[in-house]
Amino acid sequence: MRKIFVSPSILSADFARLEKECKSLEKSGADWIHCDIMDGEFVPNMSFGMPIVKSIRKCVVLPLDVHLMIVNPDRYIVRFAEAGANIITFHLEATQDVKKTAELIRSCGKKVGISVKPGTAVEELIPYKGLFDMILVMSVEPGFGGQSFIESSLDKIKLARKLFPDTLIEVDGGINAQTAKSVINAGADVLVAGNAVMFAKNRKEAIDELRKV
Ligand code: DX5
Ligand code: ZN
Repeated sequence: MRKIFVSPSILSADFARLEKECKSLEKSGADWIHCDIMDGEFVPNMSFGMPIVKSIRKCVVLPLDVHLMIVNPDRYIVRFAEAGANIITFHLEATQDVKKTAELIRSCGKKVGISVKPGTAVEELIPYKGLFDMILVMSVEPGFGGQSFIESSLDKIKLARKLFPDTLIEVDGGINAQTAKSVINAGADVLVAGNAVMFAKNRKEAIDELRKV
């Protein structure tokens, strides 16, 4: 049976208690911690930057899964790497030169993720095969937690699984116990979950439930 990773998004955390929040995720069996970086330009929202990633790095040993929702990501990749990111995911739509961005992440010794928004076809990644370790299929318009899963994402996940059989497929947006089952069946390996984990009464149960197929 293939391993399913759960990467809770701390976008839905209480930022005044970040250390407690991150440790609680680690104790609850999270595989990674998903850090949503927003610049107010690529998406109509702002979140946090390198200093917060650096602080999280000090609280937990879990891999930090950094999702850059920013234009021209090359400007900040080295600094996110230095802050302690393990996987750095950028958006296909946000860079002029996909190969250069991917190679920059690789040169920092980090895993490379590439993401597509709901309106971008998975086929657009074909020319870049081999440059990345993970594909992040956005199942909501990026920018905010707590949105509803876009059903047509399931076909995109299936296609990504078929086109890139050796690449991790991550899904982000509207993941809960119900949608998790469909995305796992469609071929996803990594589930990002914001509200479904952070607002659960019991985070361990919520994480275990997501992994169940
Ligand atoms: C949205 C972010 C997501 C978000 C997920 O732009 O990339 O990671 O926090 O939140 P939920 O799981 O609540 O949809
Ligand atoms: Zn995200």
